[in-house]
This record gives sequence, structure tokens and C-alpha cells, in this order.
Amino acid sequence: APPARVALRGDLLDFTAAPAWGDVDPAGVRFRADHWLLIESGRIAGAVPGDQPPGDDWLKHEYPGRLILPGFIDTHVHSPQLDVIASYGSALLDWLDTHTFPAEARYAEELVAREGAARFLDALLAHGTTSAAVFPTVHKVSVDTLFEAAQARGMRLIAGKILMDRNAPPELVDDVAEAERECTELIGRWHGVDRLAYAVTVRFAPTSTPGQLAMAGRLCTRHPGVYMQTHLAENRAEVDWVRELFPEARSYLDVYARNQLLNDRSVFAHGIWLDADDRAALAGAGAQIAHSPSSNLFLGSGLFDWRANIDAGVAVSLGSDVGGGTSLSMLRTMADAYKVQALRGERLTAWVALHAATRGAAHALRLAGEIGSLEAGAVADVCVWAVAVGSVAVQRDNLARGLHARLFAWMTLADDRNLVDAWVAGIRRA
Ligand code: GUN
Ligand code: ZN
Repeated sequence: APPARVALRGDLLDFTAAPAWGDVDPAGVRFRADHWLLIESGRIAGAVPGDQPPGDDWLKHEYPGRLILPGFIDTHVHSPQLDVIASYGSALLDWLDTHTFPAEARYAEELVAREGAARFLDALLAHGTTSAAVFPTVHKVSVDTLFEAAQARGMRLIAGKILMDRNAPPELVDDVAEAERECTELIGRWHGVDRLAYAVTVRFAPTSTPGQLAMAGRLCTRHPGVYMQTHLAENRAEVDWVRELFPEARSYLDVYARNQLLNDRSVFAHGIWLDADDRAALAGAGAQIAHSPSSNLFLGSGLFDWRANIDAGVAVSLGSDVGGGTSLSMLRTMADAYKVQALRGERLTAWVALHAATRGAAHALRLAGEIGSLEAGAVADVCVWAVAVGSVAVQRDNLARGLHARLFAWMTLADDRNLVDAWVAGIRRA
């Protein structure tokens, strides 16, 4: 159990509303320099100015000059792919065959899955990520071990067994009946237990038969409250392949929509190659895109049009997409997102990026009361950060003028070395 009363002193930063695109001084940014964040029984109870410390019955931690933010939320990441992060060369479809599928095949083994889950979640926490939507593998044991490890750490985690019954190596394919049985069992065992939630996890349209996509849709309909996660329009060769496999569909997104997989708990990774009708359908359904810029650059997939999605009313969160992405750090992910927008002639503010990785993701996941902010009542998933580590960053921070300039330099230069402490539900875990 967490200590009854804990107070953390530092510079508190969170969001009370979505910041406007391109505005370096928008409404919705809540910066409270030198405050005590009060935590009672694992939940945030409020905040008071630094010169008004709470009483002796509070366990106090002082972090002078440090930033205190809600833990980051990674809305798209593959736990077993930590083993193939930074694998040399090739675009999506070839990268899957060459590096990814062989790595995932190892997770049929319980010991591999168990050790991998622990290593993955500890690494997430060490990077300041306290919640995630995760793809393990097609193997049931990869899901059980991941949920067990998240439960042991008190983490808010969303995950599910990968569904794939074609176009993959034989050791990685399931079949419709067996997959339906396993998913139903996993939902019963894990969904809504502690801070865990199940996601019907279609790998992507090309690796599921029409029969399996229909089954996935049935799972979503039968179990209201479960999430749905998959990949969407990441790479041009992939989009062409989907058009060949599903000639009846209007678009890649329509393959999912026709199978009842487009709803307000859907998380679609990438969504680079969409048109205005797709974005309207995503917005109408209340679905979100997990933009994964590190992966998009590493695999050469394309440049996501963030602004078109915002303008269409689509929620955009951020995914590391390790191992297509090359870092678990959401700060590295934000820095890559900025560069993707720069290549499009747009500028991503630190506010839009930080919001996407905290309150924005929480909101889109329908978890805004629990994670993503420092609001009273939220679970105390909180990370403490050094703004500058090393002489280059320290000099830059000293010369920065204004809050946005400071935080933009932090976002651009920082990584896991800047993490001081990570608190999960009021317990220090990293
Ligand atoms: N599309 C289907 N599977 C994958 C995967 O594992 N990673 C990425 N980035 N895209 C995918
Ligand atoms: Zn992915």
C-alpha cells in the first residue's frame, strides 16, 4: 500500500484544456512554480504553495528546481520489440519479416515472456512513462505475463492478445475459434481488474482474414468498455496491399469500420495516409490516432499531418512504437514529432506535444479522471524531471527566455537521463 500522505515539492506542470496549435502562450497550461503536490492514499489531493508546507503527518520530498508532471502515456508500443529496437535497414513490411516476427516468436515461451514483460515495464518507468497501450504477441502467455507484471507495479495498462491468422510465419498465426476463446478468457481474467484494461488487438488488416476481423468486431460489441488497437495507413506499400486484399472497402480505415472496429475506444497507430473522409469518420467515432514519429522516420513511412487531424477534430496522442521507434522516451518522441512537423512546414509547440502525451491521451482513452493530470482525485502517477542534464543543456536552459522556450529546449534535449523519480499511484517505482 502507498504511504498515507506524501507531499512532493517542485515546479508543477499540467494541462486543464487542450492548447491551441501554434500558440506558445495558450490557455490550458497550468504551471505552478514551487508548489507542494499533496498525495493521499495514492491519489492527488491538491497542491499548496512551497512556503506553506503541509504538517508533520506528511512524508515530504523536496525537488528544488525540478519539474513535476503527470507520468507520460505511450499509446502505442510493442513490448517484445524492445529486443529488436534499432535493427538495421528496411521499410515496414520487410522489417516485420526480417526482425519483428522472429523476435515475437520467442514469446511463446513463458520464461521469455515473463522476463520480457518485467524488463519492458521497468524500462517504461525508467523513461517516465507510467501508462501505455501495449501490443505483446499472439501468444496468450505474453498477455498474462504482461498484465501480471503491470499489476505488480500498480500501473494503468491497456493490452491484448495480438490477432493474426494469415500472412505471417506459421508459429505466429492463430485461428478464429481459438483466438475468440482465448480473448474471451483474457477479457474475463483481466479487463477492469485493478488498473488493467483489455484491448482487442488486431495486428493490422493484412494479417487477419475477413472472418477474424468480424470476430474482433464481435468481441468489441459483446464486451463494452474494452479498447481496440491496431495499425492504420502507415506505409504506402501496406496501403496498396490492403486495397488488394479488401477491394470492397472504400479505404484502409473502412476495412476496420465495416467490422465494428471503429469506436470511441479505438486507438489507431500512424494514420499517415488518410483522406478527409477517413479523418471525418475517425472524428465522428471519437477514435484516436497514436502518432508515432520516431517509427515513421526510422522506417521511412511518411510525415503525419497533425494539423489536418486537429482541424478535423481527431484526437492525436503519441506512441513510441518501439521497436519501429528507436526510443521508449516520450520526450525523444516529442522531439521527433517536432522534426516531422518541421518537414511539413509546421511548428509543433511544446504545449501541444506535452499535452498529447498526458491529458490529451488520457482524454482520448476516456481516462481523464484517473491519469494525465495533477488534478485532485487523479491517481498519483507523477514524474519528477531535471530540466537540464549536461553542460550543453544547462547553458541552453540558463539562456532560455520564457516558459515555452525552456520547456521546448527540455523536450528537445532531454531523455531518460533527466528522470529523477517516477511515482505510480503514490509509490516511488523508478
Ligand atoms: N504494422 C503491423 N505490425 C506492425 C508492427 O509491429 N510495427 C509497426 N510499426 N507497424 C506494424
Ligand atoms: Zn506498431
